[in-house]
Amino acid sequence: MPALSNAHRLCTAPMMDWSDRHCRYFFRQLAPHARLYTEMVGTGALLHGDVARHLDFDPAEPPLALQLGGSEPADLAACASLAAQWGYDEINLNVGCPSERVQKGAFGACLMAEPQLVAECVRALRDASGLAVSVKHRTGIDRSESYAFLRDFVGAVAEAGCAIFIVHARNAWLQGLSPKENREVPPLRYDFVHRLKREFPALTIVLNGGLLDLASIETQLRGVDGVMLGRAAYHDSWLLAQADARLFDDASRTRADVVRAMIAYAERQRAQGVALRKIARHMLGLYHGMPRARLWRRLLSDSARLAANDAALLAEALEAVEGRFADAA
Ligand SMILES: Cc1cc2nc3c(=O)[nH]c(=O)nc-3n(C[C@H](O)[C@H](O)[C@H](O)COP(=O)(O)O)c2cc1C
Repeated sequence: MPALSNAHRLCTAPMMDWSDRHCRYFFRQLAPHARLYTEMVGTGALLHGDVARHLDFDPAEPPLALQLGGSEPADLAACASLAAQWGYDEINLNVGCPSERVQKGAFGACLMAEPQLVAECVRALRDASGLAVSVKHRTGIDRSESYAFLRDFVGAVAEAGCAIFIVHARNAWLQGLSPKENREVPPLRYDFVHRLKREFPALTIVLNGGLLDLASIETQLRGVDGVMLGRAAYHDSWLLAQADARLFDDASRTRADVVRAMIAYAERQRAQGVALRKIARHMLGLYHGMPRARLWRRLLSDSARLAANDAALLAEALEAVEGRFADAA
C-alpha cells in the first residue's frame, strides 16, 4: 500500500462568489489543517484586471491553492508566475466547469476531451512557477460511461508532471444543464475515483462531490488520499471543523472560538474599508442543524445592522445563540 499524502487529506472546494478571501479565512478558523482553494480566476481577468484584488490573501490562509481557468499555455504561464510571486502553494487548473461562458473560452470541462492540451497547460504552469500543479476535473463528459476515457485523461496529464488530481465524481453534461444542475443531476461515481487511485497509486487522488457527513468522508478516505468539501462546508460549516478534528486528531475548538476569531478579523478588515456583510454572509451556516440556527441567520442577515458595519453584531449574535455558555464554551 503506497503512503498516502496528507497534504490533501481535507480540502475546501473552489466556489465562484463563495470561496473568496473572507470565506477562506472563516474556513481556516474551522479547519486549521485543511488545504483551501480560491474561486476560479480566469487568465484574462488576471492578466488584464486588478491583480492584487484577485490574488491577495491573509497570511492565515495557506496552505492555499489558486484555481485558474484557461487553456492558453502562455497566458497560464504568466498567471502561474504571478501566483508564485504572491506566495500560493499550488496552482489548480479548472477542467471541470460546465458553464457555457466557459465553454466558449475553450476551457473548463470540455478540455477533458483534449488531454494533450491539458498536458501542455500543466507543463506551462509548472515551468513558470515551480509550484505544485493540480487538475480538478470530472469523471467524463456528457453521457460517457467509459472508465477508459477517465484513465487515459489522467494518464496523459500525469505524464506532463501533474501528480495531484481532484475528481468531482460525476460527468459534466455540456448541453442542456445549468452549472447548478451539473452539480446535482449527473450520477455520482465514487467507484471510478477509487479505481483511479488503485491504478495510479503514486498520484494524489482527491475525491469531491456530494460528501455531506463525517461517515461518508471517512468511508471515502479508505480508498483515496483526500476529500474536497464544497457545498456542505459552506451550508453546514461545522462539518468542516468536525472533519478537521477527526482526521487530524485535534478537536480543540468550538463554534464560539470561531466566532470570536471572526470578530477580531472583521474589526481588522473594517479598518481597511471592508463591509461587515462581506464577511458575515459566509458565516450563516455555522449553526446549521442547531436549535437556534434560524436566529443566528436572521441576526447575521439584518441589513440595517449590517449597514452599521460594527463587528459587535457578531458578538451579539453569538450571545443570542449560545447565551451564557459562550464564554465557557
Ligand atoms: C457556488 C458554487 C461555485 C462553484 N465554482 C466553482 C469554481 O469556480 N471552480 C470549480 O472547479 N468548481 C466550482 N464549483 C464546484 C465545486 O468546486 C464542487 O466541485 C462541487 O460543488 C461538488 O462538490 P460538493 O458536492 O462538495 O459541493 C462551484 C460550486 C458551487 C456550489
